[in-house]
Amino acid sequence: MTLRAWAPGRVTLIGDHTDYTGGIALPMAIGLGIELLADRASDWIILGSEEVAGVAELPLAIDDPSKVEPPWARYVAAVVRELRPTDGLTGTLHSNLPLGRGLSSSAALEVAVATMLGVNLRDPVAAAQLCRRAEHRAVGVPCGIMDQLAIIAAVEDAALRLDCHSLEMAPVPLPPGVEVVVADSGQQRELADSAYGARRTECGLAESRIGPLRLATPRDAETIDDPVLRRRARHVTTENQRVDAFIAALAASDLRHAGELMAASHASLRDDYEVSTPELDALVARLRGTPGIYGARVTGAGFGGCVVALCAAGTLVDVPVVWRGRPAGGAYLAEEPSLVD
Ligand code: GLA
Repeated sequence: MTLRAWAPGRVTLIGDHTDYTGGIALPMAIGLGIELLADRASDWIILGSEEVAGVAELPLAIDDPSKVEPPWARYVAAVVRELRPTDGLTGTLHSNLPLGRGLSSSAALEVAVATMLGVNLRDPVAAAQLCRRAEHRAVGVPCGIMDQLAIIAAVEDAALRLDCHSLEMAPVPLPPGVEVVVADSGQQRELADSAYGARRTECGLAESRIGPLRLATPRDAETIDDPVLRRRARHVTTENQRVDAFIAALAASDLRHAGELMAASHASLRDDYEVSTPELDALVARLRGTPGIYGARVTGAGFGGCVVALCAAGTLVDVPVVWRGRPAGGAYLAEEPSLVD
């Protein structure tokens, strides 16, 4: 019997580079994602892909996923390594999610494979932790928990407030008449992995000065003598505050203020965290100048990829739109035919 696993991509409405210090983030799932159609059979994993070259051809007992070829198969291998299934898979991956554009395509791949292999999606935290371990093992990127948790636990028509320390999640409904737009800068996320690791290291150094950043205030950040570490800590401490201010603004349907908070978040990621690029800044500026747009900012890790905007439903935008709509639901397993063309 052919099964269908679906894992959506994610955008962060606000709250980036906060998850790995146990901070607050507000991601949501989008309507694009990765689908895996497969039969549970044999004792090998054999997965093709409609979008990328090569086949993931793996035994069930894998020791080191980081050496597997082709490179995309490392994510598959790492999930297999974590789950240690007893049955293999034969199937095909289809994706309508742009790959490597800051929409969590690697996390979506991990979650799609884990879902097909029977991970318990009713325990989203455990499933997300497993997929995050897989990401570390596959490519050595020390990512936080946000992407995997958002993809698994996403709720239709709501963003998800994540406390990345307690791992508590709360749905945050979007006010009626509001739409989310994801636009592509066209810039591949180059150097993203090494710069990401460097930011994590800097946060650790900042914490050795002022304690856990999730508990620190922007005022604490100002006491750090090293200017780079001070800026990094300023971003994290102010961004944590902005997430809850944004949630309060949505609850009050104060979209103008929500947009201002997105602008402040973008400026903080650009100036203090230094993860934006001129292309991303230009795209954000164009969106912000469009009537009907409340706010726009870089989304995800940065260094290229996509920006996210909040707008009145139906707003005309003159930029390359990857997706627009209201928040989508999370990953699932089904016995139904493909929805992706
Ligand atoms: C990447 C990581 C996440 C998170 C974001 C930035 O997407 O995988 O864990 O750190 O960057 O918010």
